[in-house]
Amino acid sequence: MNSLMLKSKAAQMLLTSGMRIGARQTTKSSVRGYRATSFQMNQSAVCKQAIENTEKFIVNTYSRPALVLSHGKGSYLYDTDGKEYLDFTAGIAVVGLGHSHPAVAAAVADQSTKLVHCSNLYHNEWAPKLAQKIVSATLESYPQGTQGIYAKDNSGSDATARVFFSNSGTEANEGALKFARKYGKLVAEQGILGKTASEALRGDPNLKCGIVSFTGGFHGRSMGALSVTANPKYQKPFTPLIPGVQTVKFNETRELGAFIDERTCGVIVEPIQGEGGIHPAQVDFLRALRRRCNQVGALLIFDEIQCGLGRSGKMWAHQLYPEDCSPDIVTMAKPLANGIPIGAILASNKVANIMKVGDHGTTFGGNPLACRVGCVVLDHINDAKFLKHISTAGEVLEQELTKVLAPFIGNVVVEMRGIGLLRGVQFRSDPSKIVDIARDNGLMLVAAGGNSVRLVPPLNISIADIKKGAAILGECVKQANLA
Ligand SMILES: Cc1ncc(COP(=O)(O)O)c(C=O)c1O
Repeated sequence: MNSLMLKSKAAQMLLTSGMRIGARQTTKSSVRGYRATSFQMNQSAVCKQAIENTEKFIVNTYSRPALVLSHGKGSYLYDTDGKEYLDFTAGIAVVGLGHSHPAVAAAVADQSTKLVHCSNLYHNEWAPKLAQKIVSATLESYPQGTQGIYAKDNSGSDATARVFFSNSGTEANEGALKFARKYGKLVAEQGILGKTASEALRGDPNLKCGIVSFTGGFHGRSMGALSVTANPKYQKPFTPLIPGVQTVKFNETRELGAFIDERTCGVIVEPIQGEGGIHPAQVDFLRALRRRCNQVGALLIFDEIQCGLGRSGKMWAHQLYPEDCSPDIVTMAKPLANGIPIGAILASNKVANIMKVGDHGTTFGGNPLACRVGCVVLDHINDAKFLKHISTAGEVLEQELTKVLAPFIGNVVVEMRGIGLLRGVQFRSDPSKIVDIARDNGLMLVAAGGNSVRLVPPLNISIADIKKGAAILGECVKQANLA
């Protein structure tokens, strides 16, 4: 294990920059003329105080290890004691460009001296730029698409979809469910695409309000998003949830006809389930969903909050599938502004056109700071070389994991799943001991549902760091000695 005891680069960095760990020091940093507030505190004291204040002042909904992170660089994180960690969590698939990315830092620094927020009462420069980049990156990278967001309309415009900005993934899903509800009302009143409304709906706008979601899915914690997140642990303390939601077995095509009917207005699914343990949807399943939604006039919503924006090696995970598996709505968030809070709904014009002034809103969504950073992120992700790197790094990760976990496969390790840099290793029992040992050995991991560990490093991680992370994980599984 000695070879894995990572020497702290942070400690060296701090020493060479004249700041000694454990000593009382004054730090001043400057970003283009801005001087950060000085602090004078022993590093261990910083850690102790942060943990004490967390316990005292923050609502206790998370269990955290006893360390305090102070900074990050690229694929590495550093705690206040100077310990270095290779970050295979990327803030739960958020910092796609890694920590302290210079282009992100420059955009934040510059925009913060110009305009951070002005609300949606006014136009700003950056929201429409980012929306345009999202729409064109989506359509460009999948020109063969003809369904859902890719379907050409009669307007002659090459932009077949539009964007609504929110502040988080949950809020994007919440909005998408509202879009589906409004769409359902119109379809109930007017019929599907010009056909007359069916007998089952009797023209009653309130009858087409059902929503279907799937086992193992995760869509967020607000009442709407929670209602479509079929996990009793998350749902039970907060019932009753919103009415009209049905949960269907993920990847089970046979049941779809019975559950998705004319009263359904929306179906929400992750093309690759993240939190549920990295489970990709089968092609036939997504195809059946698309077909059934077309038949009954329901919207197909793909939650790509975790699997989208490059993580699968494609711009969108659904672009790994044939075009008859395309959605009407895509929700996104996590990496969109590399850690600055943002979310978005990408909806086909057919859907976007029904949302009118006043139908939906947000104070912070679409603010110029987050959107400007989003432009930086999109420019990086929508690049064939960058996406190729993700696929290659993902393949290397798979090969290395296969090597180091070979002695455990079939006993301690049940299976490995995933694609690109969205990988999961399922263990026979609770892997939290492995997460803890890995952290002690300088590797940050995050657990996922069904006894799995998620491997979601920054998208620009080096191949050398991929190999290093896999090697540490292999050693930790050995050390954990799981039965
Ligand atoms: C697939 C998916 N949807 C929705 C969410 C919720 O996003 P947020 O935490 O940004 O609200 C998450 C968060 O993990 C997610 O993975």
